[in-house]
Amino acid sequence: MKRVDSELKELSTGLLDRLASTEEWEIPPFPASAAAAAGKDAQILPAALQLGRLQAEVEGCRKCPLGEQRLRAVFGVGSARARVMFVGEGPGFQEDHEGEPFVGKAGQLLDRILQSIGLSRRTVYIANIVKCHPMTDPSNPELRGNDRPPTPQEAAACLPYIEEQMRLISPRVVVTLGSVATKILLGEDVGITRVRGVWRQYRTRLDERTIQLLPTYHPAALLRNPELKRDVWTDMKNLRKELESLE
Ligand code: URA
Repeated sequence: MKRVDSELKELSTGLLDRLASTEEWEIPPFPASAAAAAGKDAQILPAALQLGRLQAEVEGCRKCPLGEQRLRAVFGVGSARARVMFVGEGPGFQEDHEGEPFVGKAGQLLDRILQSIGLSRRTVYIANIVKCHPMTDPSNPELRGNDRPPTPQEAAACLPYIEEQMRLISPRVVVTLGSVATKILLGEDVGITRVRGVWRQYRTRLDERTIQLLPTYHPAALLRNPELKRDVWTDMKNLRKELESLE
């Protein structure tokens, strides 16, 4: 309780305001937050606060050139105690403008996929391997279709952030969306077609915890090729079964 109080005091007013007004962190409005140290919120509060600090760090990050090129850093969205985390590749045009992952067309499809198994972007956690928009022409962030996959160097520079998000949220399951997220997290040069739908054991790099990892297709791939939806539906049914078995 004391630790929670002092952590709260340490935070700047701006950060507290942002955290308190962001429903997905499930933080009650400040100053009632100290009282929330009782009961189940005692477990959520520190992780949510630490995520807030990490977000502030990411917003000032210049570990790779993408930090200078982005409009907005795209940290992540969802519950700090999510049992499942979805990991994509990196922000695109819409995400760069809004500062939230998966808000473009692919994101709207992801929302519908989540809904189909009773989940939502508030109950899960959604983030990307890289937090800034990788652009083909970085001088023109207003250009649509100016997207590219992150380079291995950009992904490596950003990897500690997703690992820290995983440490703080401690999800039971990670779903990788597409080949980039799958390759980077598993550290293997694997084709998504070969590994999708196959459960893997993921060893987190920071706290060496084992998490169930399920690779599936990226929603953008489903927009290009709707036939892939059937496989993703199979994966989502398996995900739902796994989550039910954890209850
Ligand atoms: N594609 C991704 O991989 N991530 C996003 O946030 C949006 C599109």
